[in-house]
Order: sequence, then C-alpha cells, then structure tokens
Amino acid sequence: MNDQTFADQNLKPTSEGYGAVLFYSEFDDPNAWGDALKTNIPGLDFRVYPDVGNPDDVRHILAWKAYPGFFEPFRNLAQVVNLGAGVDALVGRNDLPDVPISRLSDPGMVALMRSYVLFSVIRYARDIPSFEKAQRRREWHYIHPRPLHQIKVGILGLGHLGAAVASGLREAGFDVRGWDHATKSIAGVKCYSAADDRNEFLSEVEILVNMMPLTPGTTGLIDRDLLNALPRGAKFVNASRGPVVDEPALIEALRSGQIGGATLDVFCVEPLPADHPFWTMENVLVTPHLASITVPEAAARDVAESIRRVSAGGEPLHRVDPQRGY
Ligand code: GLV
Repeated sequence: MNDQTFADQNLKPTSEGYGAVLFYSEFDDPNAWGDALKTNIPGLDFRVYPDVGNPDDVRHILAWKAYPGFFEPFRNLAQVVNLGAGVDALVGRNDLPDVPISRLSDPGMVALMRSYVLFSVIRYARDIPSFEKAQRRREWHYIHPRPLHQIKVGILGLGHLGAAVASGLREAGFDVRGWDHATKSIAGVKCYSAADDRNEFLSEVEILVNMMPLTPGTTGLIDRDLLNALPRGAKFVNASRGPVVDEPALIEALRSGQIGGATLDVFCVEPLPADHPFWTMENVLVTPHLASITVPEAAARDVAESIRRVSAGGEPLHRVDPQRGY
C-alpha cells in the first residue's frame, strides 16, 4: 500500500493512531523485528516484553508461545500476530479477548520448509542413512539408486506449507500424492480428501511427510492404525507439530520395522527430554524444531500492513479461524 492509497482511504502513513506494538518471544530476535517493522512504519511504538509500559497503550501483540494469562493485562488489544505458521499455542486459550489472530506467511518461511522436507526425503530416497552407517564400518556399500519418479512420497496436510512442499517434491522429480481434510488441487500431485479412502492413499506411500496443523481434530492422528496402513519399512518425516503423532505408536513401529526410519523436527515435549527413546534410536534423525523459521525482513511487510489495516478497522492479512485452528 503506498501513500497515495493511504490518502485515498484517509489513513495516516505514520505510526500515529496505531497504538503500541508489544513483542514476546524467547526464540525470535526483537531487534531484527523492531528494525524491520520500523522500516515499514517509521516511528512505530515498538515494545519488547517485559518492557510493556502502560498495557492500555498496547493494540497489537506479536507473540510466540506466550505463557498462560499473558494476554490478560491488555484491555485495548486489537489483534494478535502469531510469530510463526502454526497457531496452536494461540487458539483455545482463555486469556485472549475476541480479536483477530493471524499467522505469519512469508516466502522465506516457505523456502526453508521446502528445503527441510526436500533434504529429509532425498536423504531416504538416496539411501544416505545406509551410507552413513557403512562409512563407520569402512564398507563400500553399493546400493543401486532408484529413479526418483518411482519413489512415492505422501504429504499429509496440503495447507499453505504442505502444498508448497508437495510442489517442491514434484519439481524435484518424485511421485507425489497428498491428503487433506478439504479438497485440494495441486499441479502434478494426486490429491486425496476426507471423502476418499485414507488407506488407499497410505498403502502406496514410501515416504510420508506430516504437514498437518495441530488442532483437536489432528491430535494423535498419526497413530498405530495409520502407521500400519503404510507399506512395511516406509519412512516418516514430521515437520509440523509433535502431538499430531502418537509417539508411543511411532516408537513401536520404528522398533518393529513397520517404519524404517524417521526424521523428526517436532515432538510432544520440547526440548526433547534427555531420556527420550528417539535420541538413541539408530533409525531416527532428531532436529530441534527448526525446519522453518520466519525471516523478519520478509515477514514484517505483511505484519506492518496488518497493523495499518486493523488500525483502520479492517482485517489483518493471514487471519486464522480459531474454531478451525489454522
Ligand atoms: C513453527 O513451528 C511455526 O509454526 O512457524
């Protein structure tokens, strides 16, 4: 939106009238966010928790995993922006007034997610875990590579990130299919929906990638039945949320060989407790919840736009439906 558009809408292209923005995250860099937002809205009143100032000034909160009760003091809140894609830590809580909640969505986040899943899928498709083990034995362990178009990859969840991941895998040459509650259409990807037989989708999948948001409806979705519906030895990648998986069922499937290997970025408890079996399982690769992060320079444009829109009585960008949970 340029200044002309502001003039047309009788809005002010300055921070005046926007109220204060409060930032709360243990993971994101407040300075990078402050700088990026002020580049978009010069003079913005940007505050970083715990330096809240007068809570009544705070109209916009940018938060990641705010503790219970965090939102209670803010009586003039106009919107909450989740500092990430998955809004499961924001919906269904009792300290939030009825204000719009939005998530971040930027090309940097999409690119990082695609790269993580591509890496994980290619690692299995090219038998890299076998070579890692063979190297430790000083063994020249030849496995004839399979053409990528023969390798069937399934994506569970075809939302914004899931669809981008499916297209990325397709462009890389894999045989990709996806499943979503809703009917989706992605070029070159066979899409199944809730109306289709889930087991028909699962029965062919050699590498399953979870991209489902965490909602009451997806908690524990990836359970023993689902894992048993995959061909024996299938690989599993989780890049969305830990509790979508029934972890004891996955551990059992990894031990029995029903699941041949797993690449896990997210867990029911994070950080993953030191005594958790995943740490020491030979066929599991653990990464510490970083498949995708937000790049403030890229995401701040949209957040600034949401601050302007909401201050003018409009809708933020990338608003989520709290009932649906994404
Ligand atoms: C990260 O997990 C996110 O939801 O952005």
